[in-house]
Amino acid sequence: MARVRLAPLTSLTQTRYVLHLSDGKRLVLFRLPTIESPKTKDKPRARNDANGWSYYAMEAECPHAGGPMKDSSIDIEDSAYIVSCPWHAYDFNVETGESSVGIKACTFPVDVRDEEMVVVEYTSEKLGEKVELVKLEAVSEQMKLKKSVNGANGATATNGAGAGGETDTAPIRYLDDNATVCEWCAHILNTSNPEHKIELTAHLFKLFTEREGTDKPMVIGDRSNVDLPDLPPRDGVKDVNRQAVPKPGRGGTQKSRINMLHALANIEQWAIDLAVDICVRFAKFQTNSADALGLPRAFFHDWLKVANDEAKHFSLLRTRLEELGSYFGALPVHHGLWDSASVTAHDLRARISIIALVHEARGLDVNPVTIDKFRKAGDGDSVDTLEIIHNDEITHVTTGHRWLTWICAQEETDPVQVFRGNVQKYFRGPLREPFNAEARLQAGLDRRYYENLSGYEGVQPA
Ligand code: FES
Repeated sequence: MARVRLAPLTSLTQTRYVLHLSDGKRLVLFRLPTIESPKTKDKPRARNDANGWSYYAMEAECPHAGGPMKDSSIDIEDSAYIVSCPWHAYDFNVETGESSVGIKACTFPVDVRDEEMVVVEYTSEKLGEKVELVKLEAVSEQMKLKKSVNGANGATATNGAGAGGETDTAPIRYLDDNATVCEWCAHILNTSNPEHKIELTAHLFKLFTEREGTDKPMVIGDRSNVDLPDLPPRDGVKDVNRQAVPKPGRGGTQKSRINMLHALANIEQWAIDLAVDICVRFAKFQTNSADALGLPRAFFHDWLKVANDEAKHFSLLRTRLEELGSYFGALPVHHGLWDSASVTAHDLRARISIIALVHEARGLDVNPVTIDKFRKAGDGDSVDTLEIIHNDEITHVTTGHRWLTWICAQEETDPVQVFRGNVQKYFRGPLREPFNAEARLQAGLDRRYYENLSGYEGVQPA
């Protein structure tokens, strides 16, 4: 067993790090508040415990199918931390690697008794090889929020779309403690200031996860009590039709790269609205099965997590635009994604099929190409941003696949056929190659879903 030296204890301040080791393996290091329980109360301090924090290391790839454990959700169960893989939700005890589904993840003891150096005790698969740390990479969980979101840094104009939108000078408005998930989602949809929208979205996800498992979980609520906008309002952008949006170009010039980042930021802002909309619009969904099941709370957790990720993405892209001397709102944008939401507003299966499994999956195809353009241009900071986004987007397609599969399992239908039928009905034109088959498969989409598939031609059939 090798003792791999990581970093001084005082320099570790984030919740998660990816450890790149010299034998090519990657681990995730978790830094989590020490759990006080009757079992541990009178025991001497464990060697992975210092100053109220406990440290755990496990393999970075989920042993089920390679999902990114750095993006796992973390819960406490029976006084132990349980991390759930973002792809298919297999859960692992972060200390022992044991899972309720029977497979085991590799975990590695962490020793933090010496403040000078945190050490992970690691056994390489390459016997006899001396293993060292190559890179310690903090996992970004942070939104890049502006210092003040109460109007001072807001956008400067409004497109006036939709009713009930705030203006850029209105202060951010939080709902009270009793507000339901549906009330929050409707409030976010009606919020036109992008900085307010991302801050409220992050706040809602935090609220939901913090109260889950307590005796006061958030009430999901009902869409009949709230006003949903036909088109969520936007401050500070000129909304035009798709053809009037500037062509991004090939990424060879800064202007072209700004165009690309601006277009992506626009998509991310719509993606926030789409993720909260699915929670409120389908809050009372019931399956077409004899027992007419409603949606479990995990459904709302998953889509609020997606919304939170999209808010993070928007904040990263907006920040990157500003670092490059531009800003979000400098170019016209279109709302094509929302059009796809409107035509699928009546059916959750159609909504998931078109938004998550067509549009988001398309992102998996094109992201690597876009990242390559930025890399060739030497724009490493944008590459870092786009890689965070790409990895998150795989988990979003997984979320769509998981819930379509869940509905179909209750209704005894075939998710591949349900998906293909929805594309033929609600998506215009063919699904275009090339496909990123590997990323799609990671998300659960094998070729049966998308090969040789075309939507309708011309005007959408009634
Ligand atoms: S549960 Fe992790 S990849 Fe399937």
